[in-house]
Amino acid sequence: MIDTLAVVGATGAVGRIIVDMLVARKFPARRIKLLASARSAGKPMTVGDTSFDVEEMRPESFAGVDIAIGSTPDEVAAEFVPWAVERGTVVVDESAFYRMNPDVPLVIPEVNPDAIATHKGIIASPNCSTTQMVMVMKPLHDAARVKRVIVSTYQAVSGAGLAATDELRQASQGWLAGTAEPRQVFPHPIAANLIPQIGSPKPNAFTSEEMKMVLETRKILGDDSIQVSPTCVRVPVANGHSESILIETEKKLTADEARRLLAGFPGIVVIDDLTAKQYPMPRECSGRDEVFVGRIREDISCPTGIAMWCVSDNLRKGAATNAVQIAELLATRGGARA
Ligand SMILES: NC(=O)c1ccc[n+]([C@@H]2O[C@H](COP(=O)([O-])OP(=O)(O)OC[C@H]3O[C@@H](n4cnc5c(N)ncnc54)[C@H](OP(=O)(O)O)[C@@H]3O)[C@@H](O)[C@H]2O)c1
Repeated sequence: MIDTLAVVGATGAVGRIIVDMLVARKFPARRIKLLASARSAGKPMTVGDTSFDVEEMRPESFAGVDIAIGSTPDEVAAEFVPWAVERGTVVVDESAFYRMNPDVPLVIPEVNPDAIATHKGIIASPNCSTTQMVMVMKPLHDAARVKRVIVSTYQAVSGAGLAATDELRQASQGWLAGTAEPRQVFPHPIAANLIPQIGSPKPNAFTSEEMKMVLETRKILGDDSIQVSPTCVRVPVANGHSESILIETEKKLTADEARRLLAGFPGIVVIDDLTAKQYPMPRECSGRDEVFVGRIREDISCPTGIAMWCVSDNLRKGAATNAVQIAELLATRGGARA
């Protein structure tokens, strides 16, 4: 049991789920403190029977805080994390800002839990598309060594924050009615459309989101030889990211072997019966903490390829669940404030 846990960015798309989850999972802290920007200061938040007042985040907010879960934009994380670490707080950060810092472990608790013990005050939680892909890669990598992955993502609008979900709703109404469609968050119409760009362009013509999938995967699995070729696409789905993944291994795996390995891995649920039209889809996976996989088949273009379809709630395992799991390990195994 720790004394105080703070959620920074508690009013955001991910932050609200973190707060719900901390209450539902009875997080072992005597006190939970909610922080956000000055815009939210003083706003009440109620979860079940528990009421909180959101406080404006300042450097002094971290005095006496053992663990902070940060769920803010990158530039906010860049500013507040040093304030917290200076005061002895261990920060579990959802933003991309610290993920590739060599002093910061990048952790998926089912995949590399031991990396937590190496922290120097900051632990990063990976990008949502990376997390669900690495979850399915891990059991296949352990059994047959993954050489190469070709992945196309179908990413829900909730991955772009609360304002994006409003934009999908209003734009869809506008598109159906033939009236104006708001366009504040996305650079193109999101209703009845697909946008093949998430993040900024990189010199190699991939996007920042795609390069996160390449670099974070290698860091989490501790293997720089793994080749990843991603294409990230924003789709007009409210919540839950989907991915078409082709995994090429060194040793051949049959589809049955891959299915067994995936079904036996913690946090993965296999739904795979094409004849019965059973496979994971974002609407049924939204609100769940697991990573769902189906359409598992031996590839017909390379002899050691396994193709599959993977869906996960980006706000939960892709963000909130993963960070809360890390914080639970810190609180129960020790490793928070000395
Ligand atoms: N959405 C996803 O699927 C997902 C998945 C993985 C990782 N992430 C990462 O998680 C982080 C949060 O994402 P989100 O989708 O939840 O974003 P969001 O809905 O836009 O929420 C942002 C949160 O940050 C707070 N904030 C903004 N400026 C602040 C400041 N100056 N001081 C204190 N708090 C401030 C906001 O507070 P106010 O309400 O007061 O403005 C809000 O609580 C991002 O780094 C994102 O990349 C998101």
